[in-house]
Amino acid sequence: MMQPYPIRLATLSLPAKITLTAFLALVGTGYLVAAAKINVWHSEADGVPGMSADDLRATYHGLETTVTAQIREALPAPMLREIRPGGSMRKHLLKGGDPAERALTAWLEQGAKAETFDKTGLVEAGDPSPKQIIAQRCTECHHADGGDAQETPYAANATAEPQYELVAKLALPAFGPATDKTEVRRIEPVSARKLLHVTHAHILSIPVFTLAVTVLFLMTGLGQGFKLVVAPLPMIAVCVDIGCWWLARPFEPAIYGIMAAGALFGAGLGLQILCVLGSLWFGKRPA
Ligand code: HEC
Repeated sequence: MMQPYPIRLATLSLPAKITLTAFLALVGTGYLVAAAKINVWHSEADGVPGMSADDLRATYHGLETTVTAQIREALPAPMLREIRPGGSMRKHLLKGGDPAERALTAWLEQGAKAETFDKTGLVEAGDPSPKQIIAQRCTECHHADGGDAQETPYAANATAEPQYELVAKLALPAFGPATDKTEVRRIEPVSARKLLHVTHAHILSIPVFTLAVTVLFLMTGLGQGFKLVVAPLPMIAVCVDIGCWWLARPFEPAIYGIMAAGALFGAGLGLQILCVLGSLWFGKRPA
């Protein structure tokens, strides 16, 4: 009878082993980076720092939450987050010097109101208006006509005036302007459009590297029973994960499917990578 997997990892040439080891290092690191990014992105979805089941609930199903003053502070408008120290857009704003920095910050902290969008001297006399600051520092990229950041436009084109309705999308605080009031709010889940985009980005790429790792895993000399359990694990986890993103919209408990799938995917992929590395470098060469 023919061997089911005539190519054994241990018998591969040195260049093949080095290449595969580098590939696995990249996949493993890529996975860790992705996991870290998910933690950063989703951990404040429920308004409370730190990753919890409520973050998944808020992201995929929507969540009723009690909004306190601390939560308002922890979840500023995206624009405020990006222009504060550490924010990625701060460098563009600082080209306008102190007046631009304090005026735009103050406008955003006061709730980004339409009435004051075109008001100069918000903090000190002579400070430019939020509209002027955005026109000078931001619309160059944030415009709808082919700008670097045309996904989040503030004006129709690079020289057009910024429009409040466009700016407001990222300038309004998630839970309204700062106040000490405590109230119950509903956090809406990500839009179907955004979820479709994320699904599209993941559904074609993740199975490809998962398959590559799993095929290598199947080429190890490990027992068939072990392979039967471990080999399909990551791929099935991907199906469950992506399926549950959508299922969680109407059916809240599906968020536990997302959690379980995430854990199984990580564990399965990690185990497969370790087995492949072990077989590559320390496996028995069949006689
Ligand atoms: C040189 C081009 C450029 C300039 C100037 C610029 N931005 Fe951006 N901005 C970008 C790009 C590109 C992105 C998308 C990057 C990313 O988040 O992946 C972005 C993202 C953002 C986001 C995040 C959008 C989101 O989806 O959360 C905000 C908010 C933002 N910019 C605000 C500003 C503000 C306010 C200014 C002016 C002070 C500004 N930007 C100036 C290029 C620019």
